[in-house]
Amino acid sequence: MTDYTKEINRRRTFAIISHPDAGKTTLTEKFLLYGGAINLAGSVKGKATARHAVSDWMEIEKERGISVTSSVLQFEYDGFCINILDTPGHQDFSEDTYRTLMAADSAVMVIDASKGVEAQTRKLFKVCAMRHIPIFTFINKMDRDANDTFDLLDEVEKELGIATCPVNWPIGSGKGFKGVFDREGAKVITYSDTEKGTKEGISKEIPLENREELIENIGQEAADKLFDELELLDGAGAEFDLADVRSGDLTPVFFGSALTNFGVEIFLQHFLEMATTPLPRKADIGLLEPAEHEFSAFVFKIQANMNKAHRDRIAFMRICSGKYDAAKEVRHVQSGRVMRLSQPQQIMADERKILSEAYAGDIIGVFDPGIFSIGDTLCMPKESFRYEGIPTFAPEHFARVRQIDTMKRKQFIKGISQIAQEGAIQVFQELAGGMEEIIVGVVGVLQFEVLKYRLENEYRVDIGLEQLPYEYIRWIENKEEIDIQRLQGTSDMKKIQDLKGNPLLLFVNEWSIRMTCERNKGLQLSEFGRN
Ligand code: G4P
Repeated sequence: MTDYTKEINRRRTFAIISHPDAGKTTLTEKFLLYGGAINLAGSVKGKATARHAVSDWMEIEKERGISVTSSVLQFEYDGFCINILDTPGHQDFSEDTYRTLMAADSAVMVIDASKGVEAQTRKLFKVCAMRHIPIFTFINKMDRDANDTFDLLDEVEKELGIATCPVNWPIGSGKGFKGVFDREGAKVITYSDTEKGTKEGISKEIPLENREELIENIGQEAADKLFDELELLDGAGAEFDLADVRSGDLTPVFFGSALTNFGVEIFLQHFLEMATTPLPRKADIGLLEPAEHEFSAFVFKIQANMNKAHRDRIAFMRICSGKYDAAKEVRHVQSGRVMRLSQPQQIMADERKILSEAYAGDIIGVFDPGIFSIGDTLCMPKESFRYEGIPTFAPEHFARVRQIDTMKRKQFIKGISQIAQEGAIQVFQELAGGMEEIIVGVVGVLQFEVLKYRLENEYRVDIGLEQLPYEYIRWIENKEEIDIQRLQGTSDMKKIQDLKGNPLLLFVNEWSIRMTCERNKGLQLSEFGRN
């Protein structure tokens, strides 16, 4: 056992995935309240910044000097050290949102009980499922009229392809919300609308066998419905199996109301019991166990120009093994350089804290003099191995970009290349094209504005941007076997290539993808690009 085993084993690092407005911010605030990180819920993240309009994005960046897209929250609860990775979700939804998921060991999926599975949740879920990480479901807003519980579970199973196992079961919803039934403890926990911002609830816990007391508290009708539903549930639902949860095949489901702070602590406690310690990660020398290996980390996100005056970049890294000691040198494998990381810090919602040590499971941000790229590995100087790269995620918006002043070609290429290296945009070309006119792909449309703004302000290049109708991009998995020139697509399909010359296909809709696969037997398309 190493001296850092204990520290690593008490860490839990997760991301919250949800569709905007499902209650991610509210739930995070409540978690922090239990962790004692703040006294009053609501002060985690200014609501105004969480839901800013596109136009004031740059202003916010300037004012705060730090991107609203880059926070990690760390708090202590019951002996655990918990890291919550914030996944930007509103207008600033971008590839970074996906990449952040690469740094998490599990995910909490928040679903609005009256809306069910929504578009953004579906996208983020896919990325988690690709890694088979455990996913915990919190069905929120039970204090409002909710969809039928069985229907909600069915939707999760069918839409996302994951088995569900309710850990607790809601009793009514909206005005008729009476609480939840805790299946393991065979007791009802009555709903208490705790005042916003306080953590003491006035819930009662009533064993299911105390029928009279139960009826007295939740009413005859609600009790009858509960008994009926439990009977149905025992015959239908998947058995709880921790191994299936850990392999991402089964999601434990909880019901509650983040706003009124009901069901949040129950969720947190069960989550901590079931979630894993930092997971081993795959490198080219094999699977590395976090507590058995000295310091290593990989870069999952690069944030440029957090401070315009200094043009600095911050590289966010996830520590995968061992202990990080700021006094010691580390190796940046991709450049071969041995160096001391500059200004290692933990980036909280609105503050930066300089760190002297951190452990596997933690996220640190370091000053990047321009050498780090997404997916890079850091380890001890005596070692030199590489973690498996981060996939390239499919952009959903495409635009043809050209420089207006052709004299500024050098700056244009430099700017585009640097911004692409940070991972904010992906750059493509016509099949036989050069760099005069390129196609830029982004996950969130806001990235187009960021690109234009940054090229103008940092590189003094004006660009023309013409948005294209494509929404789907596919990598060709078996490109060696396919002759791209002869490939028969639909008339609205476009053939392009990336800067490494890999052929790619752009489609307007999913129907075209299906047709193209049908017309070209053996063609294997992928939504993720391997670096
Ligand atoms: P997000 O981060 O997932 O986008 O969602 P956020 O927490 O900001 O919540 C979106 C809206 O839903 C907020 O209302 C919030 O108060 C509300 N909400 C969150 N959880 C619950 C819940 O359990 N029950 C109910 N009834 N509402 C909930 P808003 O009116 O948009 O903002 P605000 O004026 O309340 O701040």
